[in-house]
Amino acid sequence: MADTYWGPDFDALRDTDPEIADVVLDELARLRGGLQLIASENLTSPAVLAVLGSALTNKYAEGYPGRRYYGGCGEVDRAEALGIERAKALFGAEHANLQPHSGAGANLAAYAALLMPGDTVLAMELPHGGHLTHGSKVNFSGKWFDTVGYPVRKDDELIDYDEVRDLALQHRPKMIICGATAYPRLIDFARFRAIADEVSAYLMVDAAHFIGLVAGGAIPSPVPHADVVCATTHKVLRGPRGGMILCREGLAQRIDKAVFPFTQGGPLMHAVAAKAVALKEAAQPAYADYARQVIANARALAAGLEGEGMRPVSGGTDTHLALIDLRALRITGREAEERCDAAGITLNKNAIPYDPEKPMTASGIRVGTPSVTTQGMKEPEMRRIAALIAAAVRGEPVAQQVRELTAAFPAYPSP
Ligand SMILES: Cc1ncc(COP(=O)(O)O)c(C=O)c1O
Repeated sequence: MADTYWGPDFDALRDTDPEIADVVLDELARLRGGLQLIASENLTSPAVLAVLGSALTNKYAEGYPGRRYYGGCGEVDRAEALGIERAKALFGAEHANLQPHSGAGANLAAYAALLMPGDTVLAMELPHGGHLTHGSKVNFSGKWFDTVGYPVRKDDELIDYDEVRDLALQHRPKMIICGATAYPRLIDFARFRAIADEVSAYLMVDAAHFIGLVAGGAIPSPVPHADVVCATTHKVLRGPRGGMILCREGLAQRIDKAVFPFTQGGPLMHAVAAKAVALKEAAQPAYADYARQVIANARALAAGLEGEGMRPVSGGTDTHLALIDLRALRITGREAEERCDAAGITLNKNAIPYDPEKPMTASGIRVGTPSVTTQGMKEPEMRRIAALIAAAVRGEPVAQQVRELTAAFPAYPSP
């Protein structure tokens, strides 16, 4: 290969910039030495990493395959066209755009394609699991659009579809968004479609978190129901950091123009090509097994934590994440996050629905299983992790046990 391939050379990095080389090594050691339970993270494959570190990063390719504003795009055209075809086939979508630099960028493009500033949008409230791009006042969505939030029900912490419908009839939004950052349950996309149709609104599904579960056939797909599906490629899907938009053919031009030239310039062709690789990996039978195991693990982890006196919001999970109410233990999310961090267990504090605490304190934590499942862990390990989290939260020393567990299921194992 040496005469045809030129790629990542760690010795060159160490010679040029030893400080950044140390960061790279320390981060790898952190990944290998701890449990990664951040629900939005995963461990990409060596194939994806190889493309990300390739010479494709150099190429300017404003435009789309076959229609570029720069010369020399024949090679990257092949990568993007392959990626688009793979996304369409995997998700049964009429059109795919792989250029958004991130999930937030994909959402911005969807707003730009479908709405004008000042239009009304109905989306899940941020404190109940929605995302900043769903109408937060500190985000473009809340500043430039008239956003109305729907909560989850107080008693069972689930979406109340009748309330969503009432809000839609009252506010007549031009777009309804479903899909969240911290909602552990399945979403009834057909129900949302019916509500959107009743008020002639677009339905945008923000599948950033769960698109990988859809890819693996482990949960129902939003694609048949939505006008536009926005997603990230780096969460359960296990690709490079980035965004993706799927839509019907009728909206294809508007979506493509909203990504480039409206909200972005040149695409990151190394990332676009890495998305193509991840989509190929996600179409394999082994990935379907992985997606199913991610959910089985999240259920086992939530049940284990419940056994330790930590209440799973909504009683459990149907997805890759669980939201855990810690109030019975008289500890805040922030304290739990810090104590787990000290033990090598990385998770995040998270507001729970109707949280009495401020967001930076929070009454809960969010745990997710994409990374530990990539490492090969299954239900018995989830039960062990639940016990380790509980012990860490109580302030007991568990770092040694965490190291033993990660040694048995290494992240990025050495050959
Ligand atoms: C529902 C949802 N949408 C959008 C995003 C934004 O993705 P990114 O961080 O890639 O901009 C996230 C990120 O966590 C998310 O959870």
